[in-house]
Amino acid sequence: MNLTIGAVILAAGEGKRLKLDAPKPLAPCLDKKLVDFPIKELKKFFSQNKINGKITAVIGHQRELIKNYIEKNYAEINFAVQVEQRGTADALRSYFDSTEDKEITKQFQYTLVICADTPVVSAYELTEMLNLLINENLDGVAASFIENNPKGYGRIVRGKTGFHITEEKDASSDVQKITEVNSGLYLLKTTYVLEHLKAIDSNNKSGEFYLTDVFKDGLNVKAHCFPNGNVFLGVNTLSQLEEAEKALRIRKKNELRENGVRFIDSSHCYIDSDVEVGEGTVIYPNTFLTGKTIIGKNVVIEMGAQIINSIIDDGAKVLAYSILEGARLHTKASAGPFARLRPGADIGPEAKIGNFVEIKKSVLDRGVKVSHLSYVGDAFIGEETNIGCGFITCNFDGVNKHITRIGKNSFIGSDSQTIAPVEIGDNCFVASSSTITKNMPDGSFAISRGQQTTKEGMAKKFLKKKD
Ligand code: UD1
Ligand code: CA
Repeated sequence: MNLTIGAVILAAGEGKRLKLDAPKPLAPCLDKKLVDFPIKELKKFFSQNKINGKITAVIGHQRELIKNYIEKNYAEINFAVQVEQRGTADALRSYFDSTEDKEITKQFQYTLVICADTPVVSAYELTEMLNLLINENLDGVAASFIENNPKGYGRIVRGKTGFHITEEKDASSDVQKITEVNSGLYLLKTTYVLEHLKAIDSNNKSGEFYLTDVFKDGLNVKAHCFPNGNVFLGVNTLSQLEEAEKALRIRKKNELRENGVRFIDSSHCYIDSDVEVGEGTVIYPNTFLTGKTIIGKNVVIEMGAQIINSIIDDGAKVLAYSILEGARLHTKASAGPFARLRPGADIGPEAKIGNFVEIKKSVLDRGVKVSHLSYVGDAFIGEETNIGCGFITCNFDGVNKHITRIGKNSFIGSDSQTIAPVEIGDNCFVASSSTITKNMPDGSFAISRGQQTTKEGMAKKFLKKKD
């Protein structure tokens, strides 16, 4: 039979110390919110261990905002309301008393408690706790770690018969010196927690009901000290938020490296958690890969590139200082240096976008070249067409955007413009400096520029005399 676990995310607190507009669970963290991280890892933990699990968020402070966010993104999560934030034990009581399915919460074999503000905890630690609990048949496990600067954390006070947890405010100066601290992550037998939760009082310096009081000396519980403490980093301040984001990015980059992605110096690469990168790809420093970006195999991402919600196919190149948003580079296409691909830029296989070129909402077919200083918007350009330097699709008449179509194997001379809507056929030739306002049939040539007049000796009339 599958294990059953009720997982509780404590998310009712106010999080004043973060000094943000949003309630703490909705504080930004990479491209997501803090609360997304425990949710993602819990789901992974359930599926990896074939656990029949249910996640409930205990919400209180600004609960409507948090509920709306979670409901919008995850259909399967329950909510319990803690009306007044009277401490973490009180939050867990709210879970057992006020969930939509209160009897069910008591029937899960185990109850897992995780805070909304520990985004680096992963399915790995959760699994290790589960194995310990089962193998040693314990009633509860608290995850602890060594923190040389333990300020703010509850201390793990170990004695002959077990351990208990003392909060910083209630700790004597000796206890404050203890560097083994409580992570706020617990896995407990549900029967055990129900029995001990009742007795917890608020006789302490904060006047709060501390969940840490379910652990007492002499009981069948353990504090398990994890060696890599930074995974339990609690985000109470902006500086801790920055630390957590750094740790999450490092984890992401380690995963990518294990899958064959090569970094020139990964400490300066910023990669969001959902970004995918294929084997053999090389990533230079000072790069930002964000949102739902998917990068294929053997791609080169040079320094200074910013790639947002874009798809880069195998063997493509994003050269230095290029910005791609909502764009696609097909196989072996290249963009940059200094290219800007805006939403809807779809660059065909082996096509080449050069420096200072902006492309928006345009489909460029295989082998198209737009090598220098151009703007292409709302356009379709056929295979192997070459666009010269300084070309502009004049797509906007001040009210509406219009479409430009250029066929395959055409040549558009430098410094030309198309006044959309307009169509140029296949195998056409546009002479340099032309302004194309009328459609061109396949195979046609067009030139539209003023005639040159040359007057010998007349330049001196216009040249300023030097004194
Ligand atoms: C808590 C632990 C501390 C541990 C630390 C790890 C207690 C008493 N202390 O302290 O031992 O070292 O986490 O980061 O548990 N919350 C509610 N309702 C409340 C109060 C808090 O839902 O009434 C939620 C918060 O939203 C937060 C979590 O519980 O997600 C922890 O609360 P917080 O105030 O951050 O506790 P710490 O002081 O960090
Ligand atoms: Ca905290």
